[in-house]
Amino acid sequence: MAVNIRTREQLETDNDQITLILNNAFGKNRFERTVYLYRKTSPIKNLSLVSYMENNPSYVIGTINFYPVLVNNIQCILLGPLAVRTFYQGKGFGKELVKRGLELAITEGQKICFVSGDYEYYKDFNFYKIKDKDLVISTLGPLSFDNLLVSELKPDSLNLLPKTSKLLPVI
Ligand SMILES: CC(C)(COP(=O)(O)OP(=O)(O)OC[C@H]1O[C@@H](n2cnc3c(N)ncnc32)[C@H](O)[C@@H]1OP(=O)(O)O)[C@@H](O)C(=O)NCCC(=O)NCCS
Repeated sequence: MAVNIRTREQLETDNDQITLILNNAFGKNRFERTVYLYRKTSPIKNLSLVSYMENNPSYVIGTINFYPVLVNNIQCILLGPLAVRTFYQGKGFGKELVKRGLELAITEGQKICFVSGDYEYYKDFNFYKIKDKDLVISTLGPLSFDNLLVSELKPDSLNLLPKTSKLLPVI
């Protein structure tokens, strides 16, 4: 299926559709997962995006958010949740959201982005396994995936981090 994928900022009126997509992707008990301990504040507004088909902007197909987090008092961002309506998965709606979200994050001067996710999916966006960057970063609890992934949005910014540190939420 050839689709014209677009992204735009998330609106209040998208909320019900986004909840449905997240419930389907992660289940209603998703709030018990460690990542939600990092999502107590509001997501960063201009990095809160949805993807849709060009001919139907009000029908949300994919959703992405980023939250502010701290490592050693350095402000970083945490990607997620990212989810796409089941029927439309594998058609590019997720990748477009990650690509646009990271572009905007770079534009607004963000330096380091973390994600708890599948390396095979995120490696195309310059995400690395923390251990491959010689870093040890503990989290507030166990993550669904083996380890955190990290992407340097600004060159050499990982040099700002100590070798051992902890990922903390912004409260
Ligand atoms: C993961 C998810 C967001 C990806 O979005 P999507 O729109 O389905 O994926 P896209 O069409 O943008 O990307 C498809 C590509 O990613 C690959 N891909 C998708 N999920 C993958 C995974 N878990 N691991 C590795 N590759 C994956 C596909 O093989 C495809 O590769 P190609 O472009 O080389 O053909 C979506 O499938 C989803 O909502 N899944 C359930 C929720 C979830 O797991 N969210 C991510 C948590 S971090």
